[in-house]
Amino acid sequence: MKLENDLILRAARGEEVERTPVWLMRQAGRILPEYRAVRSGMRDFRELVETPEKACEVTLQPVDLLGVDAAIIFSDILVIPDAMGLPYAMVPGTGPVFEQTIKSAKDVDALAIPDPETELKYVLDAIRMTKKELNNRVPLIGFAGAPWTIFSYMIEGGGSKTFSKARKFLVTEPVLAHQLLSKITESTINYLNAQIDAGADMVQVFDSWAGVLSPSLYAEFGTPYLKRICDEVTRVPKTLFAKGAYFALKDLASLNCNTIGLDWQMDVQNARELTPGKTLQGNLDPVVLYGDEASIVRQTEAMLQRFGVRRHIANLGHGVYPDTEPEKVKVFIETIKEYKHTEL
Ligand code: CP3
Repeated sequence: MKLENDLILRAARGEEVERTPVWLMRQAGRILPEYRAVRSGMRDFRELVETPEKACEVTLQPVDLLGVDAAIIFSDILVIPDAMGLPYAMVPGTGPVFEQTIKSAKDVDALAIPDPETELKYVLDAIRMTKKELNNRVPLIGFAGAPWTIFSYMIEGGGSKTFSKARKFLVTEPVLAHQLLSKITESTINYLNAQIDAGADMVQVFDSWAGVLSPSLYAEFGTPYLKRICDEVTRVPKTLFAKGAYFALKDLASLNCNTIGLDWQMDVQNARELTPGKTLQGNLDPVVLYGDEASIVRQTEAMLQRFGVRRHIANLGHGVYPDTEPEKVKVFIETIKEYKHTEL
């Protein structure tokens, strides 16, 4: 049962590594023609997510085709609101859309705390299948959305530039907001633990919209729920990625997690100072992969140098953009795999 390549797990725990490990957020997805081929055979995004054989197939693609050091299970953060009672649709060109949103105490009461082995069985089956197919080549990453990010979809009913409705709710309905965040948190803890039972070797929590909150609102409505997740999901290394929340790095570093994700706007040196004892993940600007090969190599090497070989998991600063050429992604990955750190 031993993994052939456990670089990412060792890096997360702060152990020694022969080289920096690498994976990409959104690696299983539209950058690969092989993904688009599988996707075009399905009715919609949801059908792909809910069909374990297919979700497994597209999870393995970046491992086989790009040579990344980890797989991330193909799914979406929105399966949690769905299982709690708010179904989503993925509308091409628009993104996620929720028919119903949360407006009142009655709406919050009506939400369920799902049993992952029934309502989210399709994800767990995909994880079990993927673990088998991976045959211990690389670790499998499980994931969930952070409570604040899931909350914002539940209130807004979809994406938003400012999330002003969700932020308004925090100010006008703080008690109800806490009740809703608690319910999401409990569902998420059960879900992440079920993913670990199914075989996930590490987990990442995506707080994609952390950066729209002020430091004080994040301290009240963001971090405390991440703390609960970190305290109750304990068996594998955990990564917290709070995009845009540079101001929260110090608080995040006080939580019981191993790794903190950095977006491309965060300064590595400063982040190191704010997060003693943590591994950092990131943080190349995804637009670098639109450049020519020489500039990708140069900027990737500069990133590796900034982080150093210990306590770093290489990644982009956010998900890879869908129109990135897979060949450019390979240059990024190969540069990391071949780089010789001076400390080694
Ligand atoms: O490779 C991987 O990283 C695993 C798969 C994955 C998806 N979504 C598949 C997906 C993961 C980890 C996610 C997480 C996710 N989903 C986040 C957090 C990460 C982040 O980017 O901040 C968020 C905010 C969502 C919600 C979501 N899902 C949006 C806003 C959209 C539409 C915009 C877009 O990128 O298309 C999705 C759709 C989605 N999720 C796609 C994929 C591959 C594209 C839809 C398709 O292929 O038809």
